[in-house]
Amino acid sequence: MSQAISDRETALQHARELLQTCDKIVCFSGAGLSAESGISTFRDSDENALWSRYDPTQLASPEGFAADPKLVIDWYNWRRRIIADAAPNAAHQALAARSDIVQVTQNVDDLLERAGCKPEAVFHLHGHITHDRCHQRCGFQQKVDLANPPDLRSCPMCDAPLRPAVVWFGESLPQWAWQQSEQHCLAADCLLVIGTSASVYPAAGLIQLTKAQGGKVLVINTQASGASALADMELIGPCGEWLPALLS
Ligand code: OAD
Repeated sequence: MSQAISDRETALQHARELLQTCDKIVCFSGAGLSAESGISTFRDSDENALWSRYDPTQLASPEGFAADPKLVIDWYNWRRRIIADAAPNAAHQALAARSDIVQVTQNVDDLLERAGCKPEAVFHLHGHITHDRCHQRCGFQQKVDLANPPDLRSCPMCDAPLRPAVVWFGESLPQWAWQQSEQHCLAADCLLVIGTSASVYPAAGLIQLTKAQGGKVLVINTQASGASALADMELIGPCGEWLPALLS
């Protein structure tokens, strides 16, 4: 056996032992979870990362939407079509096979649900690209066809513009998802931190919550991240390779 393989096996063994001592496991995921499904991350060493190609203030803020709503809707519809064509990868499937693991995700896609996670067991901190909602929050929300998303249109209830039901910079997180996530992370014996740069707050603060009450933090990422300093263990590499081996 090569040195590299034996190191990997040792790391895997240690990570498995860590999980075996834990009753409550929570997974906190980010864009890296869906990367192996062909969905671009936001920040990465990869040149395809969205925020190295596009301006978040123009495309993911209320100000950007006010300045050019059609540009914003067209950009989200481009992403929607990519997600429509994507399929859950081995990491989504490994997580979905463990219904005892609570899913807290920053991802707006529905790949965890398509892999088999119950929708009510996935807390989407940054909303759902699968839905439109009224920008003025009159209460109107509607599921959209990701493969054929609607162009810029008005709310049928109040005539304000409709927009993707995602969280933009400067907006609050959905209250229910945030409260549930805080409670689960506070009670976690182990937080799996998967494919996130852990650089966007308040979501990234969940890692400190688990750590501060004595829970373990196990990070899986292709590179060092904002979670590295808090990690009890860090597995470097694609989560589609590590998670099936770790959770089976
Ligand atoms: P980022 O794009 O900031 O980080 C993705 C992380 O995934 C990076 O640390 C990569 O190294 C890692 N990664 C890439 N491929 C991977 C793989 N196959 N396996 C494991 N790790 C991999 O994404 P997030 O942390 O999710 O917000 O970003 C947080 C938020 O910033 C997003 O939800 C989005 C963005 O602006 C909103 O849209 C509100």
